[in-house]
Amino acid sequence: MLLKVTRRSFLLGAAGSAASRKARPLAADLTGIDFSFIQVTDTHVSRNRLFDARRGYDVPADESIRRTREAVKAINDCSLPYELIVHTGDVAHTRNTTEDFDLARELHQFKRPAYYIPGNHDVGYSETHKYRPAFEERFGKANQAIEPVPGLRLALFDSQPLDNRAPEAHREEAFQHLDRILTPPKPTILFCHVMGLQSFHVNQLWPGWPADVMNRWTDRMKRGGVFAVLAGHFHRDEQHFVNGLPFYLAGPVINMWGRQSCFRHWRLAKGLLTYRTIYLEI
Ligand SMILES: [Fe+2]
Repeated sequence: MLLKVTRRSFLLGAAGSAASRKARPLAADLTGIDFSFIQVTDTHVSRNRLFDARRGYDVPADESIRRTREAVKAINDCSLPYELIVHTGDVAHTRNTTEDFDLARELHQFKRPAYYIPGNHDVGYSETHKYRPAFEERFGKANQAIEPVPGLRLALFDSQPLDNRAPEAHREEAFQHLDRILTPPKPTILFCHVMGLQSFHVNQLWPGWPADVMNRWTDRMKRGGVFAVLAGHFHRDEQHFVNGLPFYLAGPVINMWGRQSCFRHWRLAKGLLTYRTIYLEI
């Protein structure tokens, strides 16, 4: 849960290539930054019952609405200081009509600036071109970078096309977006939905993305200054290291598989990135 990030460790961490070794000194030292934000994920908003026999979930109609309302209220009422909210995907449950998107837009009434990344339920894997416009119309750009405090970048990345099911051309386009939002190198927290890790469920380890994709993705992130990847998708709390880069997976708002709704409060202070998980008692 702890990651010490200093100017020296950032530069060393980013020094995987000749290009990054030439990186200019950072404009601001991370140890001087005190910045907090909230991560919320997997709200799966829908008016309908959420049922999938193969994946083993069955959530009654309106439950996603009730839980999203409670989560948004708890975030708005949260007494811990924070500057903004990032939703790491599966904002809505169904993408075949815009009904769930519209309902999700209506329910996500945050009092602070909020940023959204599409998940597999929002835009799928193989036809992201088809579904992304409706998502972006309501929730903003799927690939963008912001600098909420000088010297710290938050990169919002639509990683869906990195999956095997996407056409090669879409994957290349996603890498171009990644290139754009991570230029120039700068200390960065990257947010995405799917992250290509192996998934352990039903007592079995399921394959993630091929090693060449994982290496290319993590190499590019490290060259761009990414020091933490924050994701959703698994509906579980997990931490992993891939190619030396820490991945943090947050639990969901929706209660598939009996999960308790939660969100995370993150703080970067004195060069340490830490979080609290806040559970909703509903
Ligand atoms: Fe999800």
